[in-house]
Amino acid sequence: MTDIEERLQELRDRGLHRRLRLVSGPQGPRILLDGRPVLLLCSNDYLGLANHPRVRDAAAEAAMRWGAGAGASRLISGNMDVHRRLESRLAEFKGYKAALLFGSGYLANMGAIAALAGRGEVVFSDELNHASIVDGCRLSRAETFVYRHGDAEHLAWGLREAGGRSSLIVTDGVFSMDGEVAPLEELASLARRHGCRLMVDEAHATGAVGPGGRGSVAAAGLSDEVDVVVGTLGKALGSYGAYVCASAEIADFLVNAARPFVFSTAPPPPVAAAALAALELLESHPHRVDRLRENATTLRRALAAEGLAAGGSQTQIVPVEVGDAELAMKLCERALEHGVFAQGIRPPTVPEGTSRLRFTAMAIHRTRELQHAAKQVGAAAQELGLVSPKRQLARAA
Ligand SMILES: Cc1ncc(COP(=O)(O)O)c(C=O)c1O
Repeated sequence: MTDIEERLQELRDRGLHRRLRLVSGPQGPRILLDGRPVLLLCSNDYLGLANHPRVRDAAAEAAMRWGAGAGASRLISGNMDVHRRLESRLAEFKGYKAALLFGSGYLANMGAIAALAGRGEVVFSDELNHASIVDGCRLSRAETFVYRHGDAEHLAWGLREAGGRSSLIVTDGVFSMDGEVAPLEELASLARRHGCRLMVDEAHATGAVGPGGRGSVAAAGLSDEVDVVVGTLGKALGSYGAYVCASAEIADFLVNAARPFVFSTAPPPPVAAAALAALELLESHPHRVDRLRENATTLRRALAAEGLAAGGSQTQIVPVEVGDAELAMKLCERALEHGVFAQGIRPPTVPEGTSRLRFTAMAIHRTRELQHAAKQVGAAAQELGLVSPKRQLARAA
């Protein structure tokens, strides 16, 4: 047995081995998954824009006009009109002076955090922040204080302990695996009091939360107090890539200091043009965001009626916690047999003992599709003995 095979076997033994599933055709409420038709309930294409005709056309036209690739990093010869146009639209949409594109949300978080915090300083990070934030903190070489999830008192204690070394508080705006919204007002007031910057990752908030889908920072009216907003173009905006919104000064600094920006090829023109078209659709058709919210409520209620509670979710991300990793995957597979796809999520994506199915609503789901899906998952949970006759999810240890 090679060392790699040993490590793979260990993952299998712990119920943590992952494999790729195959989607044939575009994203949508119904897809062909590994050759089987299923209702899709775990896509981040929240507004259904990835396969929207206007977005597809924009990508195709951009490929014809500007070519398939940017050819170099932005700082060499890859800075193109379409990047500039998208950045200014994003900055305006989010209410910031400047926006800067990155290759992905993962790279944006790594780049921004590592540039804004350094050795000898302290970064404060919510314990349920996304892996790209965790990795950004590691890369920064600053000391990281991980505060308990959403716990402003614990954060305040950490800030006092750090004294003058406090540099950056960073949080998901909407938590990616829980669908909860961060307590932004409390975080902003702590950042103000302790003279450190606040950064919010709106990957799951843009297009879903706040006025016209402008995100959790706009919802809380805190655009003047949150120094850095990160968002991705690969979720509600149906394309790929990401952006950082900030002051002109911070954006200028990131152009010079964020290594994934400096040392990586600029986003391909078709990808940027598709995101621009999606943003225009979002601004001209804000009712899509309302529809997403209605669908999220329908999904939460329909799952609750089956005894499948959604924790503290207030958004389109609806987790159904099972606990044990293997059991979560059994429920996922059983739900697939019933024609519903909600991926099982296990450590290290979520803490040990909190494995779950992560459901997501899309604006393009029909009400009856969501109700049908919940019923099918309820039936699957009953078959596995996870839901008692009283219809309460019996969490496995
Ligand atoms: C909160 C959060 N931030 C960042 C990312 C990374 O974004 P991207 O997929 O564009 O790399 C994700 C992706 O899942 C996320 O959930």
